[in-house]
Amino acid sequence: EKGGYDSYMMKEIYEQPNALTNTLIGRLHDDTGQVNLDIDLDPASFKRISIIACGTAYYAGMVGEYLIEQLARIPVDIDVASEYRYRDPLVSEHTLAIVMSQSGETIDTLEALREAKKHGAKTLGIINAKGSSMTREVDDTLYIHAGPEIGVASTKAYTSMVSAMLMLALWLGRARGTLSEDQSRELLHAARELPRLVEASLTPERVENIKAIAGKYADARDFLFLGRGVNSPTAYEGALKLKEISYIHAEAYAAGEMKHGPIALIDEHMPVVVVATESKLLEKTISNVQEVRARRGKVILVLSEGDTENARYGDDVIYVPRAHELVSPVVNAVALQLLAIFIAEKLGKDVDKPRNLAKAVTVE
Ligand code: M6R
Repeated sequence: EKGGYDSYMMKEIYEQPNALTNTLIGRLHDDTGQVNLDIDLDPASFKRISIIACGTAYYAGMVGEYLIEQLARIPVDIDVASEYRYRDPLVSEHTLAIVMSQSGETIDTLEALREAKKHGAKTLGIINAKGSSMTREVDDTLYIHAGPEIGVASTKAYTSMVSAMLMLALWLGRARGTLSEDQSRELLHAARELPRLVEASLTPERVENIKAIAGKYADARDFLFLGRGVNSPTAYEGALKLKEISYIHAEAYAAGEMKHGPIALIDEHMPVVVVATESKLLEKTISNVQEVRARRGKVILVLSEGDTENARYGDDVIYVPRAHELVSPVVNAVALQLLAIFIAEKLGKDVDKPRNLAKAVTVE
């Protein structure tokens, strides 16, 4: 059942190249720079987008917020579903509410969807489970087609959701004329590369390197995760994965926010995982790394393959395949999933059955 892996979670990590292929297949048209999502939605019919989700799906939504605002120039807000339901949200018939969910059954998200509908919003689900409750209540569904996910800690659903969000942002950008054909082609090409890049992230050498690093830090009591821009959600997701399955306390911040408080936590006992892959803001992130080092924090750097220049700032380095910045959250997430699972395994935890957690949270 687990296909020779020790856990469903590990199996699902390795299924990601396939899952991503299934998310993307038949939807990208390189020749025209168009994306075909088969959704019945008039992109001119709303003025704002609200993204609503919980947990890992919420972090995928944060990447989506960044991508949609960047590529389609539509104002986006994002809420965790349990807040959205009760905060009397600004929502009308000019709102597109996007609910994101692996299971399609999370009660908070379902109730938030009902709240948005009550106010006349148009609704779209980005969902994995076929025929689930949410798919029956939204106007339309963009299935991510990641295949069944059994491990309680979400892995392939995350990377597939992020990829679906990229396609949605491209589709909106093309339809609303904010994205040129050339820009769109470039990003389509980058998206098409994702299964191959994730495959390349899972070669034995890369995996062994991450396992060795995990072994070094498994005794830490706390972890900090930092990332910037489209990769700040990568940091949040990396921290969530680690706490769910290893029970180590982990926090994440947008890298530039560290100096506004969390820097007080840093000493030689604090490992800091920094997502520092190619980006216009890489230099800024590296200066945050230097702030950590100056306080004797241990730095685990996630760098783009070939970045030997910045490697000297890390106590340890995880190299990931080079990717276009806007698709890099997918590639980078895989490295942090591996770091989390190897730390948890080193501590002898059952990663498929983390304490206190259920696969679908159907209680409020
Ligand atoms: O099924 P959903 O995507 O709606 O689930 C949302 C969260 O409960 C879920 O992502 C949770 O945070 C996972 N255990 C994360 O690994």
